[in-house]
Amino acid sequence: ERDEAPMLFIGEKVGRGCEGEAPAIDIALDPLEGTTITAKAGANALAVLAISEKGNLLNAPDVYMDKLAVGPGYSPDIIDLNKSVTENVEAVAKEKGVAPADIIVCVLDRPRHDKIIAELRAIGCGIMLIPDGDVAGVIATSDEDTTVDMYMGSGGAPEGVLAAAALRCVGGQFKGRLLFRNDDERQRAYKWGIEDLDKVYDLKELAKGDAIFAATGVTNGSLLEGVKKLRGGKMTTESVVMRASSGTVRWVKSEHRNN
Ligand code: FBP
Repeated sequence: ERDEAPMLFIGEKVGRGCEGEAPAIDIALDPLEGTTITAKAGANALAVLAISEKGNLLNAPDVYMDKLAVGPGYSPDIIDLNKSVTENVEAVAKEKGVAPADIIVCVLDRPRHDKIIAELRAIGCGIMLIPDGDVAGVIATSDEDTTVDMYMGSGGAPEGVLAAAALRCVGGQFKGRLLFRNDDERQRAYKWGIEDLDKVYDLKELAKGDAIFAATGVTNGSLLEGVKKLRGGKMTTESVVMRASSGTVRWVKSEHRNN
């Protein structure tokens, strides 16, 4: 929407419609989550897609969203967007059985996050500052290998829906609140039937019912290897496909050849 993309815009109908037996589904996607990352060959650029039955994914307008996430295994609602950074870190640290200074929080490196970063530094937290790519940042909370415990800060709302769909599959908690900078952005929300502009969305309000999340690595990252161009025109990719209802996570390594 923001980029006036000619295809795959919010609300575009794709496929054959609902002819015959075909189920109606919602698709949320970001063909390239991390354009700048890709241009700079940084970490964690992804092609991402989430699918659910029609009406089950929040029709998020292309505005910012305040995001707060934590990995699996914590009490319900341990994180709260209406509480301070310190309160949230302390709650997670207490259940993890560590000091707040031992919690690692992933944050997008943006001037708008200076206050969050200062508060995290004041309590001695580890901060993983990422240049872009908050879908991978949120998912990192669910993967112990990344050592990231929490995700905080604002980023794209559509990316929030994608990240929520992923956490529905692998576990973890996510809270999101849409942020509006002007009337045009508010109108975009009304257009998609969003009336309560201050609502805090939970995982299941962003991605309800069963959901499938799939991602393919574009550049190497914590979740996936990136696209590799090998000799002889061979290319390799790594993808992950996950399903909320079963919790199944499938890793797919593919070889592609231009024959
Ligand atoms: P793109 O895929 O559009 O490049 O988005 C990258 C990204 O870093 C997202 O992961 C994030 O949600 C958003 O941009 C943050 O927006 P901004 O760069 O305006 O802070």
